[in-house]
Amino acid sequence: MVKKSKTLTSFVCQECGYDSPKFLGKCPECGSWNSLKEFSPGNGASSRKSSSILDENTPQKLSSIGTETKNRTPSGFVELDGVLGGGIVAGAVMLLAGDPGVGKSTLLLQIALGLADVPTGSSRKILYISGEESAQQIKLRADRLGKNQGYENLFLLATTNTDSAIAIIENEKPDLVIVDSIQTMESEALTGLAGSVGQVRYAAFEFIKVAKRLHIPTILVGHVTKEGMVAGPMILSHMVDVVLFLEGEKNTGTRVLRSLKNRFGPVDEVGIFTMAGDGMEEVRHPEKLFMDGSQGTPGSVLVVTLEGTRAFLVELQALVVFSKLPMPRRVASGIDQKRLELLLAVLQKHAHVNLSTMDVFVNVAGGLKLSDPAVDLGICLALYASLKNIALPKTVGIAEVGLLGELRVVPHLEKRVREAEKLGFSTVITAKTHTRLADVIKSLG
Ligand code: TYD
Ligand code: MG
Repeated sequence: MVKKSKTLTSFVCQECGYDSPKFLGKCPECGSWNSLKEFSPGNGASSRKSSSILDENTPQKLSSIGTETKNRTPSGFVELDGVLGGGIVAGAVMLLAGDPGVGKSTLLLQIALGLADVPTGSSRKILYISGEESAQQIKLRADRLGKNQGYENLFLLATTNTDSAIAIIENEKPDLVIVDSIQTMESEALTGLAGSVGQVRYAAFEFIKVAKRLHIPTILVGHVTKEGMVAGPMILSHMVDVVLFLEGEKNTGTRVLRSLKNRFGPVDEVGIFTMAGDGMEEVRHPEKLFMDGSQGTPGSVLVVTLEGTRAFLVELQALVVFSKLPMPRRVASGIDQKRLELLLAVLQKHAHVNLSTMDVFVNVAGGLKLSDPAVDLGICLALYASLKNIALPKTVGIAEVGLLGELRVVPHLEKRVREAEKLGFSTVITAKTHTRLADVIKSLG
């Protein structure tokens, strides 16, 4: 008896999910101390056998397997469908991860209400399982979203019990299941508390199994915690079909939805939303959001960034003022601080624009984060424009700046230039129009 339980028990790192047959003080995988907790799987032992998600009894001939295009349901949000690769695939399990408060529940409730809103007589059923809010709270939120639609076909279940939730899915056979959030779900079959690696893994596995068996698309919400996202969503990412991240700053309304993994579509598409008083709104024309109309003021320059396959214009703002500090300030928001320092060095060395005694601030309008090197030139131009107090209206910079002060051609240049021209910007500076940063600066006077 003792022997049996010994072989079944393992120690699982609560940070990264590392599995060890014996106790260790330090996790060899992620290096955290004291993070291994005893884990006796009980019924959850099945969670190891990941193959049982699939049809394991009958090998199928490759030739007998249909390649019918996946049955996709539009989510009601074009921006989300784009990220998913064309809609929600039947039986797909999606993880929606993001910081608390970023708008995951709001977006999902909107999707649920939209999908539930079918003509009377048709029978589409959406099940929203919430372990975070009561049914009343969700109702209040639905009222706030203000459309008053889909109330008849949306079923709320406020529970944290994994096993009873699974039983209800099996009975009700809804057309979409939302689990908000996976970290709140727990089962008596295992020992750990809700949110522990064992519970999260068990719950996810059970929801995936039922989703695959009954072909019910399922969206799991995963919170990303301050300490790091590993404890929650990351251990799930290899189990689910799609991993979506909803990102945004607390103090701006802009939300960017990205896919980190997608078994049914591209991984480089983004969807853009804003959080408004009555829920999330799609932003079909991002340039309206990221350009706040201050072009023409010295320090403002437009760049074209590429997110996935979409090119759009974003306004960069720079402010350069005399510094009173021995170490002048370099403040970057929306771009990498190191990149800013590097570009300041290139400006000084190769374009003779010396900002070493100046405080420098750079900001991306609309609260977007840019990591695209194509904005390098724009940053340099904005800095120079602020320093010299010259306005650069209708100027768009699209080039990477090298350490030797050379301009480099960036991927999809034609597409970006077309986007700028489409919106009426006539002066587009790229590595094709100028070869060196110094030439561009000289041409500005
Ligand atoms: P929520 O969807 O609860 O975030 P998550 O599920 O990711 O934790 O969003 C909560 C925030 O969104 C909260 O600060 C209030 C705000 N909000 C709006 O701005 N507009 C709305 O219509 C709703 C419902 C919420
Ligand atoms: Mg929530």
